Amino acid sequence: MAFKNRDLLSIRDFSKAEILHIMDVASEMDRSLKAKDRKYSRALEGSVLASLFFEPSTRTRLSFEAAMNYLGGRVIGFSEPSHTSIVKGESFEDTIRVVDGYCDIFVMRHPQNFSAMRAAELAVKPVVNGGDGTNEHPTQTLFDLYTIMKNFRSMENLKVGFLGDLKYGRTVHSLSFALALFHPVFYFISPKSLALPAQYMDGLVKAGVECHEEEDLMKVGDRLDILYVTRIQKERFINPKDYQAVKGVYQIDRSFLSHAKDSLRIMHPLPRVDEINPQLDRAPQSIYFQQAHNALPVRMAVLALILGAVE
Ligand code: NCD
Repeated sequence: MAFKNRDLLSIRDFSKAEILHIMDVASEMDRSLKAKDRKYSRALEGSVLASLFFEPSTRTRLSFEAAMNYLGGRVIGFSEPSHTSIVKGESFEDTIRVVDGYCDIFVMRHPQNFSAMRAAELAVKPVVNGGDGTNEHPTQTLFDLYTIMKNFRSMENLKVGFLGDLKYGRTVHSLSFALALFHPVFYFISPKSLALPAQYMDGLVKAGVECHEEEDLMKVGDRLDILYVTRIQKERFINPKDYQAVKGVYQIDRSFLSHAKDSLRIMHPLPRVDEINPQLDRAPQSIYFQQAHNALPVRMAVLALILGAVE
C-alpha cells in the first residue's frame, strides 16, 4: 500500500484495504494520544503543512492544524482569503504554485467543485481535499468511518439513513461511496428538491448498493442503525427563496427516539443549525461530538501516512 506523497482528493481513489489500513493507523494515533506516550510527537518534526481555507471552517482547519502540531510539524496558511493577494487579483493557480514552494503538504478547502484536483495538478507537494464545493469531503468520511467502526465494531451490513441536504452536502457524497464497500442498505431522506444528485445515485446503484429514497423520516426511522443528519447548506443555494422553502424541514428531538431502535446511533458532520435539538445531545444514541473528536487521530494518520512518517 502506497500512501507516501499521494494526494487525497476523492474517497473513491481509495480501496477498501487502504481505508481499513488508515483506520488501523488512526487507532494507533488514538491510543497514543490517550496514553499520552508522545510516541508520535516528533514524527513530522521539520515538516510544514500549508492550510489554505478559501471557505469558512472550524473542525476541518483546527483538527488538521492540531494534528500537525501533535505530530511535531508546523503550520502556515490562511483561514480568510481576503487577507491574501487574491484580493489584489492573484489567481488561484498562482497562489497554489507559490505556496508549493513553502510547504511539504497542503490541506485545502474551496467553494468550487474539483478545486482540490486542480491544485493537485499544479502542486508538486501532495494535496488533501478539505472540502471542494458540493463535491466531496474525503477526510470527513475517514473519521465518520472510524466513528462507525468504534461504535459498531464493524462497518459491514449497516442500514444507514442520510437525512437533510443530500444535494449540496458533500459529506454524504463521500461517505456513501466509502460505505458502499461494506454492503450497506441506504435510505436517502430529503425534500425532493434536495435529493441525492443522479451522478452519485447512479454510481451507488452500479456498485450494487440497495438504495431507497424517502421524504418522511418516520417511514423508515425504525429500520436504521445509523441516522446521518446534515445541515441544509444555505450558502450553496442560488435562489434564497429555494432555501426558505426547505429551511428547518427536519428537526429531530427526543420524541424521534421512540420511533427508532435502541441501538440507533445519530451522527452529524457538524455544524448543526436546527436539525438536531440539543436535548438529544446527552442521549446514548448521539455520537456527533465523539465523531468530531475522532477527526484528530484520523487526520494525524492521514498526515503521517502521506508524509511517510508511518507506513
Ligand atoms: C461539513 C462541510 O464543510 O462540508 N463541515 C465539516 O467539515 N464538518 C458539513 C457542513 O458544512 O455542513
